[in-house]
This record gives sequence, structure tokens and C-alpha cells, in this order.
Amino acid sequence: MNLIFIATVFCWLLKFSIFSLYQVRANTCDTYNHPQYGFGQWINQSLCPNDLYLTGLCESKPMDVKCCFSSQTIKEEFRAAWIATVSNIDWLSTRTATPTQQQSELLNILNTLQKLNMNAVVFQIRPVGDTLYASSLKPWSIYLTGIHGKPPSPLWDPLEFIIAEAHKRNIEVHAWINPYRARMSGATYELASNHMAKRFSKYAYTYNKYMWMDPGSVEVQEFIVNVTEDIVRQYAVDGIHMDDYFYPYNDGTEFPDGTTYAEYQQHDGK
Ligand SMILES: *[C@@H]1O[C@H](CO)[C@@H](O)[C@H](O)[C@H]1NC(C)=O
Ligand SMILES: *[C@@H]1O[C@H](CO)[C@@H](O)[C@H](O)[C@H]1NC(C)=O
Repeated sequence: MNLIFIATVFCWLLKFSIFSLYQVRANTCDTYNHPQYGFGQWINQSLCPNDLYLTGLCESKPMDVKCCFSSQTIKEEFRAAWIATVSNIDWLSTRTATPTQQQSELLNILNTLQKLNMNAVVFQIRPVGDTLYASSLKPWSIYLTGIHGKPPSPLWDPLEFIIAEAHKRNIEVHAWINPYRARMSGATYELASNHMAKRFSKYAYTYNKYMWMDPGSVEVQEFIVNVTEDIVRQYAVDGIHMDDYFYPYNDGTEFPDGTTYAEYQQHDGK
């Protein structure tokens, strides 16, 4: 037998098996975070939506595998991570860091999430009625500067920053707010005069060592609506998440909302 013939058959077999392998992979719809087109998936070209028909975008795929990249097919999948700022759980390792250090810490988190193929972050921006964004409905968060009500210096806006940087990485930003919690359990710092617990002091109760706003107060409810509207008007957030949207965890005593509850009942509440 001729050696050239054997080599040709061998190469053909090799090519065939590699091609088959890629065919299988193409049909199993690999997911991929494309630098330009965002998170998507490789699908058989014949199944590709008409308005998105891009081939050869993935460096790990040979052109002869007829696939297209579609960011539409799995848009529904929400692969998110929380970035908790309350008590500096995930972000800010130290409240005395400079804004540049704070930003680089946030970029490290985003880069890690991008590597892990996440497509959303849920960023806590109002943990205890204070803000990690520039708001007319202040005050600035203690978790950012270490001093309740003190703006960062030099001034920067963490929400604006994370939106710009996350969107560059094809990651959505969902703003996470805790509507009623006004101060963490055991915290004793003096609240700024423009804090909700001062503005609506009638409805701010100390309960289970927390400071908590009365969810039954119509004024408090209206204020939360205003806060939310302020966020969505000012920032290109992709969603709003309400955490602790309820009464505080029970400490065995009655939450002192007898007055607002009576008002609620008078207005046909059950
Ligand atoms: C793509 O789909 C068509 C039609 O279902 C099929 O004939 C073809 O083999 C598929 N191609 C690949 C690479 O999977
Ligand atoms: C909410 O915003 C409206 C419109 O700016 C304002 O009139 C109202 O007083 C605000 N409510 C509270 C409780 O802050």
C-alpha cells in the first residue's frame, strides 16, 4: 500500500472526527460572552433569528461549522450576583480607602463576574436609607465614607461608575434598595437631618435594636416611591430590587405601628 494513500486517509479521518466533534458542540449550543455582542450562544445557522446572522465571531469555532452567534436566544437567563454594601459585606474592604482604590476594588469584582460569565449584578445602593449614589434625597452612606452623610472626596458616584463599567462588560446593573431599614441593629451613629428617620421621625421606630420605618405610613410609602423614581430617572439601571420590603424580623415584642394600622382599618383595610 502506498504511504501517501495511508497518510491521506489518516488526515481525512482526523478532519472528519474533529469536524464531527464541532458539530456536536454546535448543536449543544455553547454559551459565550462576546466582547462586542454580549452574552449569547452559538446555534446552528439555520435556526438563527433573521435579524441577527453573524458567523465566525467565536475564535474557538472554525468557520466551516455553520453557526451563528445570537445574543437573543438566551436573553432570558439571569445569571446575577449580589454586591452587598451594608456593613461592607462585599464592597469596600475599608471605608478609609481613596476613591481610586474603591473604584479599583469594584472593577476587580466586575472583572471576576465577567470571567464567570455573569450577565447581571444586583448592587446595594440604599442599605439603610442612605445612598451610594448622588441623590437629592440624601444622605451619603456611612458604608462609603465611614461618616454618615459625608460625600466622598474627591466626589464620585458609585452607581454611575458601576453602570458604565458593567455595561462595558455586557453586565446589567440592578439597583438594590432596602426601603424601610433606617439603621442597622446596634448602630448608634447620629442620623443626618435629611435622613428619612429624621424627616419622618413620627414613623421611625427602634425595634430589635434596628431603626425601622413604618411600612404602614402613607408618607413613608410615598417617599419610597419618590426615591425609586429618582433612581430610575437619573440612572440607566436595568432593574430595581426591593429587599426587606416587609416589617422587621420579630424580636418577640409588638412592632409599634398601632396608629397607622388603625388608620388603615378606618380606610377599609382588613
Ligand atoms: C443545522 O441544522 C440543519 C437543519 O436542521 C441540519 O441539516 C444541519 O446538519 C445542522 N448543522 C449543524 C452544523 O449542526
Ligand atoms: C414625593 O414627591 C412629590 C413630587 O416631587 C412631592 O410633592 C412629595 O412631597 C414627595 N413626598 C414625600 C413623602 O417626600
